[in-house]
Amino acid sequence: MNTTTNREWWKEAAVYQIYPRSFADSDGDGVGDLRGIVDRIDYLDRLGVDVVWICPVYDSPNADMGYDIRDYRTIMDEMGTMADWDELLAELHDRDMRLLMDLVVNHTSDEHEWFQESRDLDGGKDDWYIWREGSPEEPPNNWISLFGGPAWTYDEVREAWYLHLFDEKQPDLNWENPDVRDAIYDMMNFWLEKGIDGFRMDAISCISKPPGLPDADTGEDWFDMDLYFNGPRIHEFMREMAAETFENYDVMLIGETPGADPEEAKKYYEDGVDMVVHFDHMDVTYGPGGKWSPDYVGMETLASAGDDELDAMLNTMDLADLQAAIRYWDEGVGDEWNCLYMGSHDQTRAVSRFGDDRQYRRESAKLVATFLLSQRATPFLYQGDELGMTNADWDSADDIRDVEARGQVEMLMADHDVPYETIAPFVRNRSRDNARTPMQWDDGENAGFTDGDPWIQVNDNYPEINAAEALDDSDSIYHYYRRLLAFRRESDVLVYGDTEYVLPDETYPNVWAHRRTLDGESVLVVLNWQGEERTLDTDWVDAPVLFGNYAASERDGATLRPYEARILDRSE
Ligand code: GLC
Repeated sequence: MNTTTNREWWKEAAVYQIYPRSFADSDGDGVGDLRGIVDRIDYLDRLGVDVVWICPVYDSPNADMGYDIRDYRTIMDEMGTMADWDELLAELHDRDMRLLMDLVVNHTSDEHEWFQESRDLDGGKDDWYIWREGSPEEPPNNWISLFGGPAWTYDEVREAWYLHLFDEKQPDLNWENPDVRDAIYDMMNFWLEKGIDGFRMDAISCISKPPGLPDADTGEDWFDMDLYFNGPRIHEFMREMAAETFENYDVMLIGETPGADPEEAKKYYEDGVDMVVHFDHMDVTYGPGGKWSPDYVGMETLASAGDDELDAMLNTMDLADLQAAIRYWDEGVGDEWNCLYMGSHDQTRAVSRFGDDRQYRRESAKLVATFLLSQRATPFLYQGDELGMTNADWDSADDIRDVEARGQVEMLMADHDVPYETIAPFVRNRSRDNARTPMQWDDGENAGFTDGDPWIQVNDNYPEINAAEALDDSDSIYHYYRRLLAFRRESDVLVYGDTEYVLPDETYPNVWAHRRTLDGESVLVVLNWQGEERTLDTDWVDAPVLFGNYAASERDGATLRPYEARILDRSE
């Protein structure tokens, strides 16, 4: 059914996500910046990625690290200047690489002048945000923020409540108001005119709110947030946005769409979005209560068990669940297209979560790479994952920078009446800060990230895990990614082939296998997703190996080594 007739450059591309604050600091203020990225473009070019997505670099007070924008048309001081940004775009384009900007339009910062004018009733922007009158004692409805705590804050200036689905410093814009929409489209066109190659649309499924903002259904330990997502006017807004902005340019559109299923995703595709970011495969490593509920482990265990044991408990995954999530989206979108990521600035480190970052860091990081780059989906690599960077220890609550983690830790400590140390292993396995520790460039001070004081702690393991070391070592995770990216680029079957899911099954619960087929060509991807050997009783495991994470001399016929990955040639 799938053929290459639907070829698109963005299906064949690999995207590399940069979290600029933590990538490279060129001026010693401890915060990564645009010049830092410019200085490292060759590193990315050598790796072989085609598109760079940078998280927000707009002027911001950084309550949510740039996802709270104060001025959409100005570069944040710490990140540099518009001239630096222009240079970044030009340098990327010189190397045939493209640039995606983050588009954060569900909310702004409360320091944005629109909000300032909105809270001051004479400002002429009364309903640019979502305000409700009422007693300061009682919020307008029972909504809670996606970061925890109430989704409403009472503003003393206007003497009214405003809605924020995220932090209180991120008030939600009122998309019902056409003036708001026009102002957003105008801003988008400003960036499109500057020559960007697309947007990654932050929390875009949240922009249309249900009429009347009804209470959400709740139960014990349960709260129905579906109300926040894919509201009744979402596709009308998206189509209007398309017509006013991106449809007039040749760009790539990624929608971050919490709450969407594949059917809903198809509607975004009809609106002109190329791919949506989905989350189901990320949820498979959380316990029953979701990301921030440690109840399934229990406070006593958290306080007393060893680190190895806790890391394993806090990242248990049933491989069948991972496959169900991948398959659901792959089959669900039919002839449309997905993107796939194993790490991002909102997740913990891929090797710590899906692999074994202690005993088999190198092997398991390569297995995760093989998984990511062999699916029918545009791969998104997150900075540092190509080095096998790991989660970090967060010894003190004062070291936490992430607004989500800070709020959740406070609640957990209060609800369970425990000291921070009890929660610390949970922070190591949940906080978004794990992905935001500085990029480890070399074994010099601060991992070569900055000459100043880094804004967030550097992971202690940088003397062993860093880019300089990886570039020098032909067997490194970096070079594995580089070779596999090159292999994928030359392989239509890996990009466009149909997928058939083969393993896990009852006999092999920890072995993944999927087949990709296109025009008579066929490959089988086999991943031994465990720290133990496994002998397969199949006729295919001996097929010629096109790609693998163990050297030919280390391979052992039908026995897969710990975290061994093989791409087998199964063409007739
Ligand atoms: C998205 C971003 C995340 C941010 C949130 C609010 O989920 O990826 O980092 O905190 O939106 O803007």
